[in-house]
Order: sequence, then structure tokens, then C-alpha cells
Amino acid sequence: MDELVKKAETLLTPALFFHTPVVCRSARGIYVDATDGKTYMDFASGLAAANVGHAHPKVVEAIKSQAERLIHAGCIFHYESVVELAEKLQGITPNGIDKFFFSNSGTESVEGAIKLARYFTKRPGIIAFSGSFHGRTMGSVTLTASSSKYKKHYHPLLPSVYHAPYPYCYRCPVNQTPGSCSTECFAHLERIFNEDITPEEVACIIIEPVLGEGGYVVPPSEFIAKLRKICTRHGILLIADEVQTGFGRTGKWFASEHFSLKPDIITMAKGIAAGMPLGVIGASREIMDAWPPGAHGTTFGGNPVSCAAALASIKVIEDEGLLVKSTEIGAKAVERLRDMQTRYRVIGDIRGMGFMIGIEFVKDGNVPDALLLKKIMDICLMEGLIIVECGREKNIARLMPPLITEAGEMERALNIFEGGLRASI
Ligand SMILES: Cc1ncc(COP(=O)(O)O)c(C=O)c1O
Repeated sequence: MDELVKKAETLLTPALFFHTPVVCRSARGIYVDATDGKTYMDFASGLAAANVGHAHPKVVEAIKSQAERLIHAGCIFHYESVVELAEKLQGITPNGIDKFFFSNSGTESVEGAIKLARYFTKRPGIIAFSGSFHGRTMGSVTLTASSSKYKKHYHPLLPSVYHAPYPYCYRCPVNQTPGSCSTECFAHLERIFNEDITPEEVACIIIEPVLGEGGYVVPPSEFIAKLRKICTRHGILLIADEVQTGFGRTGKWFASEHFSLKPDIITMAKGIAAGMPLGVIGASREIMDAWPPGAHGTTFGGNPVSCAAALASIKVIEDEGLLVKSTEIGAKAVERLRDMQTRYRVIGDIRGMGFMIGIEFVKDGNVPDALLLKKIMDICLMEGLIIVECGREKNIARLMPPLITEAGEMERALNIFEGGLRASI
């Protein structure tokens, strides 16, 4: 074992799960140079954060230049980068999102969003979805339902939180098939309103427009349309958690756009600042203005350097046409994976958008096969390709490479992946 890993084990909490034993010396673009002398392709983008790749020169330049002028402001004084970023976000977030609160991470953004929803509506209830992941702090972990392990020994959690089934069509929660489906799973929301909490007492419904940690599941657009309607009808705020899906991950700035969804509140983090810590809550002017000074706050949120990195990262996505490019390369990758599916029965389902692609491995029909995926990922790692899994059963490979990944690099990664699959069955 690498000396650094040994030392880390004596000094860092075991609660942190490292997806690979790789010890990084440096990382640039989609490549990670490791102390084992190998160079890896990072198809995990540092957990969907390094959307423009590691250490993009434009981002590094922006970070350096900002750090030379101002590193921290702590809400003591105003500074340019945060206002400039808010203005930029106003232009790229879904219509109706006008004002922003900056935090440091995804979980913090979710915490703030549910506080804002409660503050604005003066209602207690929150509805989230099974399979969802919204973070690990006490409020957000209550909403998280991708695995009970995240909540073990932390009860009691936030009260008045309810879960409805996510429309995971490959494993339909109400046993329908795509042909027979008329989004019956939606009836569970009505059941919650009838049996658990009246809609007048619900502040918000929070949803990942594409399920991330829970399995890279793309919901039917009718489901999202119905959700928008029911929220509007009852004065419930709809929160789109775009922490993982944001900033081009699905080929659009935000996954909500695929469904023409206008959320009332949107949460962002991960891919926003090319790996620098930053989170955001966006809302309409009306909703955000309901929060008086002191109703929420932060010392580090909206750090000047992180904001400069975010501005540079957004500009890279624009200047390099990464939304279009990743959509095209992602679609070709899905095409190739679908072809693989016809040859390997262990691939149960392939889904995704842009560079957010899930490959579900199964045995005996559709029984989750985590063991097989583990074997494939181990071989990929040996061959220099970092891939991580998702889904409660850990049987879904998630391909989330940086948006700068070229067609040839995707091809090479898929060759390694297919080689790993062939060697594992
Ligand atoms: C959809 C979603 N929301 C919230 C979070 C929490 O983000 P963070 O790890 O930055 O707290 C995550 C992290 O994976 C996420 O995927």
C-alpha cells in the first residue's frame, strides 16, 4: 500500500469513502498523474465537479488573479466576482430564477433551499423522492433516500418530511411497463396528501431532474410536467436539485431545460466552479426577497476565488462549445453502449443525457449485479480508467467525464470498459 494511504488511514476519519486507491500527484484536463507512475482518465470528474477538467488554464489564471487581489470577504464588504457571477447565473439558469444565495457546497445549498421554502410559505412539510441524494447534513440527509446507511444512527431527523417514489422506469415502483405507463407512480403523491400531510401544509417538493447517486435515472417528461402543475395548484414550491445535473452535465446548462421545467428554487454546486468549493441557491425575486437580513447567512459562502473560478469555468463551457460537443459525443457513446447491450445480456439498461450516462448491470433477468460491476471497474482502473458506481445496489456504472473529453478519448474509454466487461463475464 502507498505510504500516503497508510498515513491517511491513521489521520483521516474512516467515514470518508475513497472510490479508488489512486494517489494523485497532479491532475490536468481529464488526466490524473498518480504516484504509481500511471496516468488515469478521470471519468468521474472528481465526483461530477471538474466539468471543464482539472486545472483548466483559464480557470487557474482566474484563480491566481483573484487570489492576488482578494481571497476572502466574509460578508464584511462587497466585491465584484460574486455580483458578476450572480448576473451570469441569471442569464443561464431557467427563466424565473433572478436572485442568488451563495454557499460552499451542495448540502448547504439544499439546507438553505428548504429553509427558504419554509420561510416563504410558512408551511412545515417537505416532500422528496425515493432514491434521491440531497446531501449529508441533518436537514438534507433527511431528504436523502438513496440508502438508509446515510441515516443510520442519526435519527431523529427533520420532522414533516415525506418520500414519494421516483419514476425509475426500468424498475417501475408501481409495476407498469413503458407501454402501459401513464405515470401511475404519481398517485403516491396524492396518497401523501390524503394520508400524511395536506398540500396546504407542504412548503416544497424537491427533486433531482435526473436522479444522480440513486442510479442516473431520467424521469418521463410527463411526470415532471405533472409535478410542476400540482405544485402550482397547491402553492407548493418546486425545488430542482441541480447539484449534480448542473453546469452542462446533461448537455444543457441545467437538466430542468430538458423538461422545460421552471423550478421555483434551484440548488447548484459541484460542477459550478471547476472543483473549487461553491454552492448556490437560486430563486425568483419574490421568493428570495421574502428572506430578511439575518434569516440566513454564511462566512465563506460565495468566496471571491471560487466565484472567479466559476465565472472562468462558465466562460470555458461557452467558448469551447462544450454543451453541444458533449451532447454529440455523449449520444454516440450511448449508441455504442446500446450496441454493446445487444451483445451482453448483463447490461440491463442504459440511460442518461450528455455526459451523465448510467449503465445498469444485472443477472438472472434484472437482479442487480454489483459484483460484476466491481470486477469491471477494477479492470478499468488497472487499464487507467477511473469509473465510479451509483444506485442503492451499486450495480450502475456512471460515466461522468469532464465535458472537455474528446471523441477519441471517449472511444478509448469505452474500449477499456468493453474489454473489462468481456474479461469479467
Ligand atoms: C443532487 C445532489 N444534491 C446534493 C449533493 C450534496 O452535495 P455536497 O457533497 O457538495 O454536499 C449531491 C452530492 O452528491 C448531489 O448529487
